[in-house]
Amino acid sequence: MTKTLLLLPGDGIGPEVSAVARRVAGRLISQGLALKVEEALFGGASIDATGLPLTPEVLAQAKGADAVLMGAVGGPQWAGQPYDKRPEAGLLALRAGMNVYANLRPARCFSALADASSLKRVFVDGLDLLFVRELTGGVYFGSPRGVETLPDGQRRGVNTHVYTTSEIQRVARVAFELARGRTGAVCSAEKGNVMEAGLMWREDVQALRDAEYPDIKLSHMLADNMAMQLVKNPKQFDVILTDNLFGDILSDEAGMLTGSLGMLPSAAIGDPGTPGLYEPIHGSAPDIAGRGVANPCAAVLSLAMALRYSLGAAELASRVEAAVEAALDKGARTPDLGGTMTTAAMGDAILAGL
Ligand code: NAD
Ligand code: IPM
Ligand code: MN
Repeated sequence: MTKTLLLLPGDGIGPEVSAVARRVAGRLISQGLALKVEEALFGGASIDATGLPLTPEVLAQAKGADAVLMGAVGGPQWAGQPYDKRPEAGLLALRAGMNVYANLRPARCFSALADASSLKRVFVDGLDLLFVRELTGGVYFGSPRGVETLPDGQRRGVNTHVYTTSEIQRVARVAFELARGRTGAVCSAEKGNVMEAGLMWREDVQALRDAEYPDIKLSHMLADNMAMQLVKNPKQFDVILTDNLFGDILSDEAGMLTGSLGMLPSAAIGDPGTPGLYEPIHGSAPDIAGRGVANPCAAVLSLAMALRYSLGAAELASRVEAAVEAALDKGARTPDLGGTMTTAAMGDAILAGL
């Protein structure tokens, strides 16, 4: 049966890197993959056309697709909008609306790129981390939230970090299940030394492990220490479980371990049978947008994750990943990786490996 992939190119470099992912999907379709690619407006592009970053129609289209592949959203032109009308609010609404609560962010350092990292080769060559980031809760979604003006004229800004046991345990379950296919080691990050909800996170993760996953080697680490350990000795970790905010920050840090933020894909998944949301972890990169030099690897590797987790094509996913690796092995490099290739030329190099 033909599956549907909804492409949401978004803003800035989003459309540039999405175009390469679309070409890769097109090649697979021409080779027999039963896939239909649809496209819709999202983020700032949708604000400009409709006034909303995510229209109800596009959310319905996303929920009706088998997988959604997003480029990136945001940019200075929309930064002045009220908070709930900004491109980023559309992304949060899409994640919440699709109920994709577990965000898998693999950070693999391809051997060819070990010298592109800001760390020495010995620390990153062969690195293969998997972040499992909670994606639909925590301080991103908690209430109360907002900014009020106090009687004395100063302002008071509030965001609320909040989790329930079920929200914690459903994402921990995803981490434990994935760890079973890897080394079995999971390290969970929080700030239980200063946050009650952080200590509760630790306790609820440990309780699930003790009740149902005795084979998992679970450890806990304070998130600030983890930020340091990730640059001291990143290979000590395998699966890393985090809340929404710490996962955002620590996965960008891990981006540099792999050579560039432009290398990291992600998969946001929910309950079995529901569509996944796939996106590079990088943003719209306003500083390089429009120049045709963005690294498309994260977008192409996100397509590979969609093939694996939502489109029932794990073997094609491996072929796409191998094509990216082959291009890098042959020396293909965009400027963020120390090269001079354009986005399109990098796409050609990847397609050559398919
Ligand atoms: P960013 O990730 O867009 O860029 C950070 C730095 O990394 C920039 O120097 C950029 O040029 C570089 N970079 C990122 N992706 C790259 C790629 N594929 N190839 C080469 N270089 C790349 O982060 P930012 O500048 O802090 O944010 C810009 C905008 O993007 C903001 O509006 C932010 O909210 C948004 N954002 C969106 C997403 C998303 O859509 N998923 C993710 C992060 C940030
Ligand atoms: C990411 C981004 C988003 C996040 C923003 C754009 C809402 O930084 O996907 O990493 O913070 O989750
Ligand atoms: Mn981020």
